[in-house]
Amino acid sequence: MTNTPADTVPTPPQSERLAGQTALVTGAARRVGNAIARALHAAGANVVIHCHRSLAQAQQLAAELEATRAHSTAVISCDLLQPAAPAQLIADASARFGALHLLVNNASSFYPTPMGSITLAQWDDLMGSNLRAPLMLAQAAAPALRRTRGAVLNLVDIHGMRPLRDHVVYSVAKAGLIMLTRALARELAPEVRVNAIAPGAVLWPEAGMSEERKQKIIDQSALQRAGSPQDIAGAALFFAEAAFVTGQILAVDGGRSIGW
Ligand SMILES: NC(=O)c1ccc[n+]([C@@H]2O[C@H](COP(=O)([O-])OP(=O)(O)OC[C@H]3O[C@@H](n4cnc5c(N)ncnc54)[C@H](OP(=O)(O)O)[C@@H]3O)[C@@H](O)[C@H]2O)c1
Repeated sequence: MTNTPADTVPTPPQSERLAGQTALVTGAARRVGNAIARALHAAGANVVIHCHRSLAQAQQLAAELEATRAHSTAVISCDLLQPAAPAQLIADASARFGALHLLVNNASSFYPTPMGSITLAQWDDLMGSNLRAPLMLAQAAAPALRRTRGAVLNLVDIHGMRPLRDHVVYSVAKAGLIMLTRALARELAPEVRVNAIAPGAVLWPEAGMSEERKQKIIDQSALQRAGSPQDIAGAALFFAEAAFVTGQILAVDGGRSIGW
């Protein structure tokens, strides 16, 4: 995650690639964030596991990771919609290991907002978790990330480029996060890289989805299957180390964005 040019030093073992570096992953207790935290930790990073409601799962993840490497994790719980929370989270995460090298903006709320029923509370929640919090976290983290020549990684969505039916507010929020990625890549250069991953279907929504709808999504993907959180974690590792890459949005979607 540090922006040093490639040189002739031999590649370190996979388990030490990110040794001595600290990553903060928001919404990391479960699902995709959990897989990203595991992958960064397996590559040698110290990981700050942020959660909101899933404190028990976050502590379980930390215990598992600590069993493989002691003093390598921290758990911090907060609601990122609270105005002071992003700055406090960055301060606490930076203090835990003395530096910050990677901020992964993974936390997100997701649910339908059909036209005619959209409320201001839904707008505040969906825009707050998917767009406002990533901006405020990146702004708070910028000084620490400049010091380490670190990186920001945003989890966006292919539906930030192509609207998802009945999800106007979520689609708009992710579209904003895509532009935020590109804008911050300019603002924070040359010290800090800012990139994004746009997952396709890697985990079905917890609120449920009909088998028919799932099959339709798979049928529309070039690779004709759903992905996994590990596919996203692999891309996160790539961006953590891609010292010459900034301002990029990588679709990890089985070819759904070139689908039919
Ligand atoms: N799953 C997919 O197939 C898919 C597809 C496209 C894009 N993505 C994107 O990839 C990322 C991860 O996806 P996912 O499905 O794993 O996400 P998710 O389960 O829907 O949400 C991740 C976490 O976000 C946290 N969160 C939500 N609102 C919060 C708030 N106000 N303050 C603090 N934390 C909050 C929750 O933490 P707690 O549980 O601790 O409350 C939740 O566990 C998201 O950004 C998502 O938009 C995922």
